[in-house]
Amino acid sequence: MKDYLIAPSILGADFARLGEETATVLAAGADMLHIDVMDNHYVPNLTMGPMICTALRNYGIQAPLDVHLMVQPVDRIIGDFIEAGASYISFHPDATIHLDRTLQQIKDAGCKAGLAFNPGSSLDALKYVIDKVDMILLMSVNPGFGGQSFIGSVLPKLREARSIIEKSGRNIRLEVDGGISVETIRAVALAGADTFVAGSAIFNSSNYQQTISQMRKQLSAVPIKK
Ligand code: DX5
Ligand code: ZN
Repeated sequence: MKDYLIAPSILGADFARLGEETATVLAAGADMLHIDVMDNHYVPNLTMGPMICTALRNYGIQAPLDVHLMVQPVDRIIGDFIEAGASYISFHPDATIHLDRTLQQIKDAGCKAGLAFNPGSSLDALKYVIDKVDMILLMSVNPGFGGQSFIGSVLPKLREARSIIEKSGRNIRLEVDGGISVETIRAVALAGADTFVAGSAIFNSSNYQQTISQMRKQLSAVPIKK
């Protein structure tokens, strides 16, 4: 039986106190940490590399690390994130030339592989590689920055992705990323999401535990799709 997973994006955390922030958010009930990797090329912002994952692991963080690559090219950096302790590695299909090879590279290293889709991108890329996908990540903002407004066109797209997952018969997580808050989480769950990235909604709140439990309360009324 699958559970809903809440994955705070550390992009919203106070980087001067990253170890403490991540430990606090996990103690507050988060399930895994979402790591937004931006290269000022695929997206117009520059954030963090594998050394952040290494630092979190060395600090004692044992929760899954959900790495979201917004970089181009993708392949060269994958091994570094695996060595640094990544659990999931997601990338955007339009950021790599050989989609199947990139997925295979992640799987061969024993890591879970995710495909990420921008708000304006179709899900066509899934068609021939679904057997190698462990997570589908649908962006509900254009990638590059935290704190943006939720784009509602992700709702029918989540339903489409859920139906693709059902048809595949595979155990694939459906993650939604961008503008997720206590206000929006229920609608995305109803549309089929089971994994929720939230940056500013959690890290800008004064009480992480209260915010996460309010999110779980919203989810409790929505039976999980399997
Ligand atoms: C955007 C990132 C998101 C972002 C989410 O490019 O992929 O993970 O940090 O932040 P919020 O929850 O603030 O929209
Ligand atoms: Zn992300």
